[in-house]
Amino acid sequence: MNGRSRTSKPSRLLAILLAAAALAVAFSVPTQPATATTVAKMHQVTYDRYSLMVDGQRILLQSAEFHYWRLPSPDLWRDVLEKFKAAGFNAVSTYFDWAYHSPKPGVYDFTGVRDVDRFLRTAEQVGLYVIARPGPYINAETTGGGFPGWLKRVPGRARSSAPGYTQAYQDWLGHIDRLIAPHQLTRGGSVILYNAENEYAVNTDAQYMEDIQAKARADGIEVPITTNDCCDAGSWSSTWASGKGAVQIPGVDDYPQSFECQDAGTTWGPWGEGITEELRDDAPVFAAEYQAGAIDLNDAGYDACRDLTGPAYMKYFYKSNLIASGATMFSYYMGYGGTSWGWLPQPNDVYTSYDYGAAITETRRLTAKYDEFKRQGYFLGAVGPLTKTGTATAPASSNPAVQAQARANPDTSTQFVLVSHTDRASATSESATLDWAAPDGRYTVPVRVDGRDAKVLLAGYDMGGQRLAVSSSELMTHLAVDGRDIALLYGREGEPGTIVLRYPSAPAVKVLEGAVTSSYSSGDLELDYTHSGLARVLITGGGRRPLLLLLGTDATAASFWRADTGDGPVLVRGTSLVRSASVRGNTVDLRADTGKAGDIEVFGPARKLAVNGEPVQVRTTAGGSLLGSLPGPSAVKPPALTGWRTRAEAPEARPGFDDSGWVAADHTTTTIPYEPPTDQSGAAPVLFAEEYGFDHGNVWYRGHFTATGTETAVSTSAITGKRGIYLAWLNGHYLGSAAGGTEADADTHTPRPGPGEFAIPSGLLKPGERAVLSVLVENMGNNDDWTADDNRFKQPRGLFGASITGSAAPIAWKIQGARGGENLADPARGPLNTGGLYGERSGWHLPGYPDGSWRKAAGAVAPGVTWLRTTFRLDLPKGQDTSVALRFGAPGGTGDLPHGYRVLVFLNGWNVGQFSGDIGPQRDFYLQEGLLRHHGANTLALAVISTTDATLPPTTLIPTAPQRGGTTVATVPAPGYR
Ligand code: GAL
Repeated sequence: MNGRSRTSKPSRLLAILLAAAALAVAFSVPTQPATATTVAKMHQVTYDRYSLMVDGQRILLQSAEFHYWRLPSPDLWRDVLEKFKAAGFNAVSTYFDWAYHSPKPGVYDFTGVRDVDRFLRTAEQVGLYVIARPGPYINAETTGGGFPGWLKRVPGRARSSAPGYTQAYQDWLGHIDRLIAPHQLTRGGSVILYNAENEYAVNTDAQYMEDIQAKARADGIEVPITTNDCCDAGSWSSTWASGKGAVQIPGVDDYPQSFECQDAGTTWGPWGEGITEELRDDAPVFAAEYQAGAIDLNDAGYDACRDLTGPAYMKYFYKSNLIASGATMFSYYMGYGGTSWGWLPQPNDVYTSYDYGAAITETRRLTAKYDEFKRQGYFLGAVGPLTKTGTATAPASSNPAVQAQARANPDTSTQFVLVSHTDRASATSESATLDWAAPDGRYTVPVRVDGRDAKVLLAGYDMGGQRLAVSSSELMTHLAVDGRDIALLYGREGEPGTIVLRYPSAPAVKVLEGAVTSSYSSGDLELDYTHSGLARVLITGGGRRPLLLLLGTDATAASFWRADTGDGPVLVRGTSLVRSASVRGNTVDLRADTGKAGDIEVFGPARKLAVNGEPVQVRTTAGGSLLGSLPGPSAVKPPALTGWRTRAEAPEARPGFDDSGWVAADHTTTTIPYEPPTDQSGAAPVLFAEEYGFDHGNVWYRGHFTATGTETAVSTSAITGKRGIYLAWLNGHYLGSAAGGTEADADTHTPRPGPGEFAIPSGLLKPGERAVLSVLVENMGNNDDWTADDNRFKQPRGLFGASITGSAAPIAWKIQGARGGENLADPARGPLNTGGLYGERSGWHLPGYPDGSWRKAAGAVAPGVTWLRTTFRLDLPKGQDTSVALRFGAPGGTGDLPHGYRVLVFLNGWNVGQFSGDIGPQRDFYLQEGLLRHHGANTLALAVISTTDATLPPTTLIPTAPQRGGTTVATVPAPGYR
């Protein structure tokens, strides 16, 4: 998203009646995605206006977005996917990033950290459906919105049916589709949907939309094709719900809280109503990208973004979407954001971290938002009638400030009532009674809405062997264990709750814990209580099988985990994560993480317990569960970072530097749709970096000319993307630096190059002698192409033009970027890892580089480029997940962020980000396990580009909330220095 107007979405007339709508399009799908142990099964994916169906069984799609390319440690993909699954998600949505896989036209890499097949296999093994989103355009705040830098040279408007672009993207789709196709549900995998393009809403070309889909089908894509209509673009162009280029299941993107994280606390859905519209009457309502975090547009920090999109927002907007719009397909952006490592970030909106304020942090820790997803996700997964609903008469509220909206399942009559403030903006505390004509009778139900809140209440629901008549507590989940039902309901701490259950005769009610009163009359068992801690009520007799009611608060409900085993579901209280469960004889085996020592309680079909393979001592409680306790993680104390060595570089600035191996930047024409300016000699050389195959990372230029001695100034312009700079030297003399140009003008191809004016000191140039102008230009990443106009995206990077005042001499230019250019020198780390700094080209970032002759460092840097290196050994506790970050600044305090220089951070040769107060608020850089060796030697290398004399702040290794448990992570193979 970029450059969107912040107007609210115009209301579209919903009924887009489609002639050619196949009501239930048959594709072959699984109820449970195949697991490692199940034989691949073919399944059918169909849909109708209510929901998706797998083998004819309705499902509610609860998906979250995760970009495998933002977590370059394949073993950790499983960690994130298991965390999705444990929160009640049944699907993961992912973009496939063309630029990440293709360094050069026709060249693709799907190995190592790019192993898409492995990602899809892992999702299948974890038991998640996949929404595959290969673009070709993906946006996603990644460089070029997923377009490779080389695509700038390809003639023909990108995101159109122009021949040059068509040939390029069809080649990409041909390669990625071939990997996706065998993983479809129809072929035994778990890919359930295929998303064509991305928010393709302005400057559209229906032929292109049609071609993408025809290509997908030709490549064997059989599952329904969907697309994500941009949140407020519908008025401009197509939603692809009908007409040429229409998809089968159109979806809607919505970011109701927008991206002003600094306004968290005051913002409340100003951007659209947050309700996903029905685009077609033959397909389910699909919230294709629903806001679950935010990019940090104003450097407020991601914790502010998490507040902006926290549990209150999630309760109100997600539940409204479910009940007010009747959506049964949800995909939340992002579930886990990760890291835009290397040159992945798009320069305008983001910095290195793509934490996104998501439910799972960049360091893979679970937050209060995760708890909210879990409360809602378990509910969605447990209550089948939600998959087929229509609007229904809502109960009347006694208080006009409290509104009730309702849906009901036409087959079971189960009702779902959304209770919220009538005025969305209100945050008062309101009580009301609902006069509720429920399927089992007419009830008066007291409800409360306190602050920003919304509740989905149930009536007329067959809950396992029970009949729930009505409830003012929200249901989280219910399950049958050992011949009895367990139901977990919850409400806000201190609020009253009422549940009415139907029994043919009076049952026996035993309150095991908490204060709950009960009464029985005319078939209704009514329970009344105040939500506080966890109450437990055992109900037996009355003509039904036993029921254990667990009545919690938001917090105590979130302490439960549900996992399915071959012997039925289990419910667990305690631990910080239950990844999976199985039953072995009389033992429940859990894979679980603990963030601190504490209780573990298990409701399952066995009398013994093992956690992560270790037996746990348990006793049986009055409620029939197993109760034991688990230790927490061991304390972690990473070593201090000492022994830094340093070396200044930038020999390219010196006149005598040998650039004979560099590429001559001598093109006079280009297919990149920008015109370079003329210089003092009347020439207009094309200096754009992509023109010479240097698509990502920093580039050097050396311009040779014969001096006259009359030169007075150098005028330059360079395009770096936002927050980028460039530095210039003349005959080794540092002239200074300038801010690089950013986005092109929206309507013209005026590039707004960053102008630089540098006076030439008198006497520096001698008449008749050769002179060299050296310029180092950053490339902060390529602009996106959100508006599909070719203009922003194709804006080149590098030097745009240079002219010398007081001379008419021609300049002969040489250019040098990443070693090998598009022929990657280091395919394992890929095209976005390094650029053309001397140290990068010489392997100074790599482990094993012999830096013994470098000076001992105190962190002082001068204008130009300076490197620092150190090594450290880790031996972190085994059997636990310890996320480690590199912090710039004192360990406890923070200090001001520095300006005037920027630091590229290389961990064991991997570029894990860029630090500078000029780039963003980030001071902690996540060192992902896999890149970081938790047991062994590690190398840190810092490349500092500075415009000033400065001293770096201290650096420390910071562990984040260690978790006992975790997943096993192997080191990602990549070469060291040779
Ligand atoms: C959406 C877009 C995503 C991402 C998001 C903002 O509009 O489809 O790719 O850019 O906005 O983070």
